[in-house]
Amino acid sequence: MIEKKLPFAKKQIEKIMENFTTPFHLYDEKAIRENAKSLIKSFSWVNNFKEYYAVKACPNPYILKLLKEEGFGADCSSLPELLLAEKAGIKGENIMFTSNDTPAEEYVKALELGAIINLDDITHIDFLEKTAGVPDLISFRYNPGPLRRGNAIIGQPEEAKYGLTKDQLFEAYKTVMNKGVKRFGLHTMIASNELNPDYFVETAKMLFELVIEIYKKFDIRIEFVNLGGGFGIPYKLDQSPLNIQYIADNIKNVYDKIIKANKLHPLKIFMESGRMITGPYGYLVSKVIHIKNTYKKYAGLDACMADLMRPALYGAYHHITILGKENNSLNYTYDVTGSLCENNDKFAINRNLPEIDIGDIAVIHDSGAHGYAMGFNYNGKLRSKELLLKTNGEIELIRRAETVNDYFSTLDFSKL
Ligand SMILES: Cc1ncc(COP(=O)(O)O)c(C=O)c1O
Repeated sequence: MIEKKLPFAKKQIEKIMENFTTPFHLYDEKAIRENAKSLIKSFSWVNNFKEYYAVKACPNPYILKLLKEEGFGADCSSLPELLLAEKAGIKGENIMFTSNDTPAEEYVKALELGAIINLDDITHIDFLEKTAGVPDLISFRYNPGPLRRGNAIIGQPEEAKYGLTKDQLFEAYKTVMNKGVKRFGLHTMIASNELNPDYFVETAKMLFELVIEIYKKFDIRIEFVNLGGGFGIPYKLDQSPLNIQYIADNIKNVYDKIIKANKLHPLKIFMESGRMITGPYGYLVSKVIHIKNTYKKYAGLDACMADLMRPALYGAYHHITILGKENNSLNYTYDVTGSLCENNDKFAINRNLPEIDIGDIAVIHDSGAHGYAMGFNYNGKLRSKELLLKTNGEIELIRRAETVNDYFSTLDFSKL
C-alpha cells in the first residue's frame, strides 16, 4: 500500500484560500523538478536522452518553462500547444509535433518553429509536402497492430486510429528518402497509464529491432526512437509507482544487445510522457458546500467534472483527503459530487471517508496531468485557477479562473 502524502498542511491551504478562492489546482514545483531530474539521471547512459513533455497533460506555460529549465522539450499535438511551447521559449528540435488528422496550418507552424514532425500516416507525406514542405528530419509513428497488446484506455493497437502499419512504415521511409529527407526518427505509443515496467522495455526492444530491420533493408540509419508516453502512475493506494531506474536499466540491456551489437550506436532515445511527469504533483483543492442524504450520502464540492473529468470519463479513481481529518476513521460512505446536471459528475462513488462537514476542504490527488487540461464549459461551468507552490514556499497564480465574460466572449449580444 502506498501512502498519499500532501506537500502542504491544512493551515497552509487555509492561508492560500485567504487570497485564492477554491476550487483550484495546485502544482508542487519542487516535486516536479525532483522527478524531472530523476528521470534524466536514470537515462544518463543514453547519448542524447530527451523527454518531450506532453503539453496536453498540463498545458500551462509556467509548467512548460520549469520543465524546460530541467532540460525537457515539448510534445505538441495542436496549433495552440505549439504556440504555448513557443511562449515558454521551447523551439526547434526541442519540440516534437505528434499529431493526427492534422490540419495544414498546424504543419506550417510546426515547420516554422523547426519542430520535429512525427507523421501519423503515410498519406501525410504528400499532404505535408503540398502544404508546408518537406523538412530534413522526419519521424513516423508506428502502430504494431496485432503484434502488441494495448490497454483499457487507449485500446488495442489494431483498433487504434494512430500510426502506420509496418509495410506502410517501410514504404514511408523509402518515399521520404527519395524526397531528400536526410534524418529519420521512429515513434510509437500503444498504451496509456501502463504500470507494468516490462511493457516499456518490450516497446523499446520492438523499436530497436525495427531500427535494425530498416537499416538492413534500406540502408537508412534511424537517428532516434521515441518511446511515446503512457507511463502510468499509482492513482490507487494498492498500486505501485513505475520503477524508472529498472526500466532504464533494462532498456540499456536490450540496447546493448540489439543496437550496440549491430553497430548502430549511438541512437538517441526520446520519450513524450505527460502523466508520469506532473500527474502525482497536482492537487485539486475544493470546499464542501453541501451534504445531502437521500438513498445515499452525498458530499457536494465547489469543484465539478469540468475541473477534473477523469473519474466521469474513465471511472478513474482519484484519492481524496479531507484536510484535518486524515487520522479519523473512515466510517462514512459518500458519493463525492460536483454540480453538473450529469449523474456521472462524481469524483468518487461509495468512497469510505471520515464524516464530512460543510466547509471541509477536500483535496483530490493526482490532478497534475490530464486534469485541468480536460476542462470544458458544459452547463456553463467555468474552469478553475491554477496555482504553483514554488520551491521557496511561495504561491504563484499561473492561470486565473475563467469568468462569465470569458464564457460569453465568443457571443455578440448587441445583435439580439
Ligand atoms: C501522442 C501522445 N504522446 C504522449 C501522450 C502523453 O501520455 P501520458 O500523459 O499518458 O504519458 C499522449 C496522451 O494522450 C499522446 O497521445
